[in-house]
Amino acid sequence: MAEDLKPRNMKNGDYHALVELWSAFPGNTMTGADGPEGFRKFLEENGEYCFVVESGGRVVGSVMAGEDSRRGYVYHLAVEVSMRGKGIGSGLMGAVEEALRSKGIEKVHLFIYVDNPAIGFYDRIGWHRRTDITVMSKVLIGDEFMGTREERQ
Ligand SMILES: CC(C)(COP(=O)(O)OP(=O)(O)OC[C@H]1O[C@@H](n2cnc3c(N)ncnc32)[C@H](O)[C@@H]1OP(=O)(O)O)[C@@H](O)C(=O)NCCC(=O)NCCS
Repeated sequence: MAEDLKPRNMKNGDYHALVELWSAFPGNTMTGADGPEGFRKFLEENGEYCFVVESGGRVVGSVMAGEDSRRGYVYHLAVEVSMRGKGIGSGLMGAVEEALRSKGIEKVHLFIYVDNPAIGFYDRIGWHRRTDITVMSKVLIGDEFMGTREERQ
């Protein structure tokens, strides 16, 4: 990978560029947790697992991850359309996996819609699809934006 496409740790000041990046692709799942305050708090607690890639002074890739001392969780992996296929996504996931491993986290999970083509990407970089688990969710604070995708349509 070219030197300037290496991940660096995410900063608070990346927020507006990230919202722009995430808003640009269909099916993005921004929720109340993605407001400026939620973002700041997440970074404060999990900043060592959150990365961006810049190119030409722009943020073109992102990933946020965290852990609860048992398992890691990945959110907001995204690469700008024009920059895909250059190893940025796998570089970001490699950085997350290394950071979690270095803290002794044995396993990492992520949630993805069953029709997202990015499943092929995760297969390619060694992730496993679980067919033995279903996700159950309950909205505790918020409204329809925290519901299912069907409810949002
Ligand atoms: C998924 C995504 C992050 C991949 O980023 P990327 O920078 O293009 O990925 P890379 O260039 O690192 O690709 C790594 C490998 O995966 C393969 N790959 C990438 N996207 C793929 C896809 N959709 N299906 C199958 N394989 C894929 C690449 O060909 C490459 O294979 P190689 O090692 O043989 O060369 C990008 O397509 C994206 O931002 N998608 C929209 C956001 C999204 O859906 N994120 C996931 C939310 S959970």
